[in-house]
Formats: sequence, structure tokens, C-alpha cells
Amino acid sequence: MNAIYLDHNATTPVHPDVLSAMLPLLKDDFGNPSSTHSRGRSARVKMDEAREQVAALIHADAREIVFTSGGTESDNLAILGAARALKDKGRRIVTTRAEHPAVLNACLELEKEGFIIDYAPVDEFGRVQIEPLSALLTDETILITIQSANSEVGTLQPIERIGEIARQRGILFHTDAVQSAGKVPVDVQRIPVDLLSMSSHKMYGPKGVGALYVRRGIPQLVPLIVGGGQEKKRRGGTENMPGIVGFGKAAELAARDLAQDAERLGGLKRRLRDGVSVLPGVRFFGHPTDSLPNTLNLGFDGVDGQTVMIRLDLEGMYVSTGTACSSGSVLPSDVLSAMGVPEEHMRQSIRISLGRSNGPAEIERVVDSLIRIVTDIREKQGVPS
Ligand SMILES: Cc1ncc(COP(=O)(O)O)c(C=O)c1O
Repeated sequence: MNAIYLDHNATTPVHPDVLSAMLPLLKDDFGNPSSTHSRGRSARVKMDEAREQVAALIHADAREIVFTSGGTESDNLAILGAARALKDKGRRIVTTRAEHPAVLNACLELEKEGFIIDYAPVDEFGRVQIEPLSALLTDETILITIQSANSEVGTLQPIERIGEIARQRGILFHTDAVQSAGKVPVDVQRIPVDLLSMSSHKMYGPKGVGALYVRRGIPQLVPLIVGGGQEKKRRGGTENMPGIVGFGKAAELAARDLAQDAERLGGLKRRLRDGVSVLPGVRFFGHPTDSLPNTLNLGFDGVDGQTVMIRLDLEGMYVSTGTACSSGSVLPSDVLSAMGVPEEHMRQSIRISLGRSNGPAEIERVVDSLIRIVTDIREKQGVPS
């Protein structure tokens, strides 16, 4: 039987059209976009086109897109770059403890440089609480960094509201949109956001490439990588041309299919949720409605999430526990802990993140397997179910 991949928040397979767009760049079309001869100019045309495609996904201007090596670098460039540029204005940054490590660890780096990080609380669903967040803002606050969607539980943050508050107070607002871009509409014309991170491999593009949207008119970020002045001196180094062209194609396909994919995956997620709900003692983590259409985080009372994950793996079904990117780590989740989930329930949590290859028949197989595996584990442990 075919394997069922259910870990699309960790990464996605490269779309065949993306691969076709990339291959010429790995063969005859190998020019450096900085070269002034025709092979270089042809590369630049391709890079410009990809920049337009990525910009279009979030309704930005192509000049506002900086290509990076992925979501982690985009987050680092936004946070370290903005803080270092504005350090004479103030030294406080507001974030939450439910952010991705790319954000949290960038903030910890800044602590070493004398910045103060203020953490806004999140509620039981992982949503940032607006009143306490506003109360943290001072004249010293230079940056708010809060994700658009949580990778583990799928909860969507009220980024429009946060952006409005930031703008009223003259504070820069960065959002990590790595999990939301390509899955739900993201429109920088509507959201008052100054910096926004994206990653290609979360939207059926290649790994090792991403982008940072930098709103025109904000102060110049201090670059993380200096070199030959590429990306308008915002990120040095010869551009990853196959990656950038692949990312452009992936962004174009995501923009085209977004509404229909969201609708379809939302339906499959509901079926999954209803299907496993016949079991007693099922717990769902994350916001029940304001959530990514593809993400379901759940746990079964008395049943270790890691054991469920391994049993599913043996049946060719791939889900995850813990954070998306901390491969091999079984540390309790920072996100669930910020939501106030007790340790016992944290250890029971598994994340199922759906994607393009999943269909109704697969969801039925997953539901059947989950019911059988959970019942079996409980019986072996002598837990009544
Ligand atoms: C919310 C979020 N931000 C950032 C990243 C890091 O992105 P990348 O793997 O492209 O470095 C991830 C990866 O899982 C993520 O989920």
C-alpha cells in the first residue's frame, strides 16, 4: 500500500512543474545574474520574474522582496537586521513564547547585545492576547515579531490588529508567515506589516530558499551577509538561481490553487477530526476555527504521542510530534507549554498536516489506523477505552 505523507508543515514535495522550471538552471541556463553578457542578462530576467511571482503571492511590489536561504534566514534578517538598525532608538522587542525557534533564538541573540525581549502571553488556543500585548509596548519598543500561523497547532494570529497597534505606536512589525503564505491569503496591502518571512519548501518549492518582504520606506536593515552587493546590498552572495526560479514557480502555483486547496484540505481535516472523535479521551490543540486549514494537532488520553507516531510510521503514515524543525527532538513543546497545556497532555500530542497529495480515501485509512492503534495501546496498558 502507498505511503501517506501527513507532515506538510515540516516540508512538502517539490511540485513537478517547479522541478521542470528549475532543471534548465542546473544545465545550460547557468548564468550569474550579475554578469553583464547575455547569459547573465538571461539569468537576471529569470530572477526578476521569480521576484514578481513571489511578490504577487502576498500582493507586494517585487522591489520589496529579498531572496534568502529560507525561513530561518528571513526571520534572522528581519529581527537582527531591524534591531541593529534601530538600536539607538530603543532596545525592546515584543514577541511570544509560541514562536518558531528561528524567531526565539534570534531574540536570544539580541539579548546578548543588550536588548530586552518582552513576551506577550498566548491563550489556551495559542492566540496572542491583544490587551496584555499593548500593555508591554513602551517608547523603547522598536519591533514586534509575531507569527501569522503556528506550525505546530495551526492557530492563526490576529496580525491585522497587531499591525494596526504597531503602526499607531510607530513600531516596526515583523510576521513569520512561513506556515501561512501559500495556505491562506496573505495580503501586505491589507495587513499593516513591515517585514514578512516566507519559505519555499513549505509551498512545494525547493529547500534552501526563502524571502523576506521589506516594506518600502522602512529604515535600511543591517545585513547579516555582506558581499558583492546582491539583493540591493540587503543580502550578499551569488543568488541560488535554481532555488529562486523554483520558488517563483511554487509561489505562482500557490496563488493559483490557494482557495481551492484550502477548501478541500479544510474538508479533509473536518473528516479526520470527526472520524477520530468516536474514540473517548481525544483532545484537540489549537484554535477550533481560526486555524490553518491543513493542520490538526491532537492527543489521546493515556497514549504517548511518540508511540502513536512510530506505530503509524510502521504502517507507512508519516506524522510528527514536537516542533516542525527540531528533527529527532522529543523535548516538550514550547508552543503547547506557552498555551498552558499540562506536560502529560503535551507528550500525547501528534500533529497531522495535510497537503496536495492527500485525498478522502487516505483520510479514511488514517482514521482507521488511529482508532486501531490507540485502542490497542490502551488495551495493552490496561486503560479502559
Ligand atoms: C513558522 C516557521 N518559521 C520558520 C521556519 C524555518 O524555515 P526554513 O526551514 O525555511 O529555514 C519554519 C520551519 O518549519 C516554520 O515552521
